[in-house]
Amino acid sequence: LRIAVLFGGCSAEHDVSVLSATNVLRALDPAKYEVVPVFVTRDGRWLSSRFEGGVPETPEAGTEFCLVPGGAGRMIAIPEGGAPREVAAIDLLFPVLHGLPGEDGAVQGLADVARVPLVGCGILGSATSLDKDITKRLLREAGLPVARALTIRRGAVPGFADVREALGLPVFIKPARQGSSVGVSKVATEAEYEAALAEGFRHDGKLLAEEFIRGREIECAVLEDPEGGLFVSRPGEIVPAASHGFYSYDAKYIDADGAALIVPAAVPDALEARIRGVAAEAFRVAGCDGMARVDVFVTSEPRVLVNEINTIPGFTDISMYPRAMAASGIGSAELIDRLVAHALV
Ligand code: DAL
Ligand code: MG
Repeated sequence: LRIAVLFGGCSAEHDVSVLSATNVLRALDPAKYEVVPVFVTRDGRWLSSRFEGGVPETPEAGTEFCLVPGGAGRMIAIPEGGAPREVAAIDLLFPVLHGLPGEDGAVQGLADVARVPLVGCGILGSATSLDKDITKRLLREAGLPVARALTIRRGAVPGFADVREALGLPVFIKPARQGSSVGVSKVATEAEYEAALAEGFRHDGKLLAEEFIRGREIECAVLEDPEGGLFVSRPGEIVPAASHGFYSYDAKYIDADGAALIVPAAVPDALEARIRGVAAEAFRVAGCDGMARVDVFVTSEPRVLVNEINTIPGFTDISMYPRAMAASGIGSAELIDRLVAHALV
């Protein structure tokens, strides 16, 4: 099977995607898969890359690829300064892109247009889950608890006093459509609020002000089988270092001691069952298929609130999706095989 792995991309999570793809590429068994690594530049070009077991090449220029609409994976290569030529068709497209465009349904739509099987979540679940505002509305409508929030748009920004009254303090200010906590701030004063808005709007025209939930951060990996059943992993817990205040970008990827991952999380059996049930329900409610990681908060009462859904979860060394799957008996190679089997249905 010839499988194109897309990585890099235009979003603020470009570097995270390269780390994720490195692990995905290493997990693809060369005896089963002929891998075509495709590096997506920060300005969105698809460049031919090379992977020989270490880290994938991330070229700045070179041969560009494009998929032929309706072509069942037919692919055109455009060498620098040369004439376009058709290369061997791909059988599968595996986007390992975080953020947008790529995790939001755009590349998933491209796969549909090109009539090539797609690994992972399709258009609808990708588009809804990438938008924290839309996800929250869907989850709430389905009766799943979520943190209270206000939607903020440029030109419709609530005053600090209104936010404080509605949500209490501290509050989180988050871009609605970003991952890895890029552009997220924890705010307790008016000055911090103003700075957080400016930072948030650098990343998205739509923000959320979200109440602070005092609770544990727990995540489950969800994998759909080809018959449509859901496998939900054992939950894992993230414990950010006190010095970071929350599970920020730096706590995730910059500071090696920024957070501890405890997999499986130490929770009583009944609570674990509830968390896994909520994860499965959230996956369905958001219109997901294939795979996603569902992140929840668990309070001391205990309440289980859904924080967010990630349809192309990180596969980096510190990422929860592969760890939670491994803790549930599914190693990386088997995970890839299952994702491929799902894509080929
Ligand atoms: N957005 C990052 C990659 C994650 O959810 O793991
Ligand atoms: Mg996310």
